[in-house]
Formats: sequence, C-alpha cells, structure tokens
Amino acid sequence: MQAIVTGATSGIGRAIALAMHGQGHDVVAFGRRKEALAELEALGLRTRAVDLADRVALAVALTGLAPDVLVNNAGMMPRMAPFCDLTEDEIDRAVAVNLGSVLAMTRAVAPGMRDRGRGHIFFTGSTAGHAPFANLAVYCATKAAVGGFAQALRLDLAPHGVRVTEIVAGRVETGLYNALLPAEARAAMYADASAVQPGDVAAMVAAVLALPPHVDVARFDILPTRQATATGASRKDG
Ligand SMILES: NC(=O)c1ccc[n+]([C@@H]2O[C@H](COP(=O)([O-])OP(=O)(O)OC[C@H]3O[C@@H](n4cnc5c(N)ncnc54)[C@H](OP(=O)(O)O)[C@@H]3O)[C@@H](O)[C@H]2O)c1
Repeated sequence: MQAIVTGATSGIGRAIALAMHGQGHDVVAFGRRKEALAELEALGLRTRAVDLADRVALAVALTGLAPDVLVNNAGMMPRMAPFCDLTEDEIDRAVAVNLGSVLAMTRAVAPGMRDRGRGHIFFTGSTAGHAPFANLAVYCATKAAVGGFAQALRLDLAPHGVRVTEIVAGRVETGLYNALLPAEARAAMYADASAVQPGDVAAMVAAVLALPPHVDVARFDILPTRQATATGASRKDG
C-alpha cells in the first residue's frame, strides 16, 4: 500500500515513516530538509522535498501519487509568547503550516480514497488542541482546528470506507522545541523518561492500521504516564 507521511524528516513522522516502510508499505516521505530526506532514501523510502505551506509546490509533489494512507503529521510550534506579542507573520505562518497545509493535502488526497472506497487518514493533533496552554494560543488554535476537522471529516468519509484517526499526543521527545528552547531546557523537559518516544506513537499507528477495515479508531490519546491529564494540564506538555 502506498502511504504519504508528512513531517517525515524527524521526530514522530520519521518514526511512523520508518515503521510503515518496515511493514512493507510504499512510503513517500515529505519534508524540507534534504539531508534527512536523503537518509530516508538510502533506507528505501521515496521522498518529496516540499514546504507544505507552498500550495503550488505541494500540488507538484503530489503528482502521480494515489496513497491508501495519509499521515498528516508535519507541524511547527510558533514562538512561545503571549498572543498580543506575536507578529502577524508568525500567526499566519503557524496557521498555514499547521492547518492550511493539512486541509490542502487532505483535499488533494481524500477524493481518490473516496472513489476507491478505502483509505486511512491520520492527523497528528495534540493535547494542546484539547486543553489551554499559556503562551501557545495560536498553536492551541491550530491543533483544536485539526481535531475538529478530523472528527468532522470522518463523518464525511466513513460511508465510503475511509478511516480517519486523530492522534492526540502529549509530550513526545522530538525536535519540536529545537528552535524555541535552549538545549538544557529541552534536556530537562525530557529527563527521567518523562516523554513518550516517537517510536511509541509509530507503534500505535501500526496497531491502528492493522485493525480490520470495519474498525476505525477515531482518536487515540498518547501521553507520558506522568503527564496528569490530556484536558486541563497547567503547563505545556505537547
Ligand atoms: N513533540 C511533541 O511533544 C508533540 C506533541 C503533540 C503534537 N505534536 C505534533 O507532532 C507533529 C510532529 O512534530 P514532532 O514533535 O515530531 O516535531 P519535529 O521533530 O520538529 O518534526 C516536525 C516535522 O514537521 C516538518 N515540517 C515543519 N514545517 C514544515 C513545512 N513548512 N513544510 C514541510 N514540513 C514541515 C519538519 O520537516 P522539515 O524541517 O524537514 O521541513 C519535521 O519533519 C507536529 O504536528 C506537532 O505539532 C508534537
């Protein structure tokens, strides 16, 4: 089966792409970092270098692809600051990457799944889409929108045999904060097994995919055991 995984150059997406490749899927890995894509190619995956916020480039990258599985995983975290201090450009960029590109990608791929009467679309959402976190209003907004979109889209596609799964992730040890926090702060955040590992999320995706076609896991929450709750945590946990 052909599968597109976005954000496959690092973190959660890379783990999902490699796990699916290991299971025999024809994985097309999307990302921007050419070196990381080259590494995936060396491991046998196909790749597309594209900034997902660039609609024209995205359309070109999708030429000739008809995936049975789409993992809408790519995302970024805007600068952690009170909403009033973000620039319009920072807001627009986060919405374009975290939401706009997800809608565009799904619009391009879902009709083919509907026509073929099968398919599975995953969305990497976040606990931040289901609970408020200070200094992350725009990130929370984009992830809440992704969650709402996924659940509503599922109703459109379910009659056509296409499954939709929202991955509600808590803190996962990835490169998400690389540009936002110093190395020591990131190390502290992930110390003492306080984060889920990307491979854990990939294992869940593989398990969900392996279920028979009549079973749809509409959403799963995956968070560190010590992260108190997916709804109402008082600090940013993913
Ligand atoms: N880590 C967590 O705690 C956590 C918790 C909940 C949800 N999430 C979500 O999980 C998803 C994956 O993030 P991660 O934690 O694995 O972080 P990551 O290691 O930083 O990975 C982010 C991925 O998104 C890609 N990406 C970002 N902007 C892009 C753009 N404009 N065009 C194309 N690709 C782009 C990056 O690829 P390039 O740099 O190569 O473009 C990279 O592969 C995100 O949606 C994030 O919001 C993460």
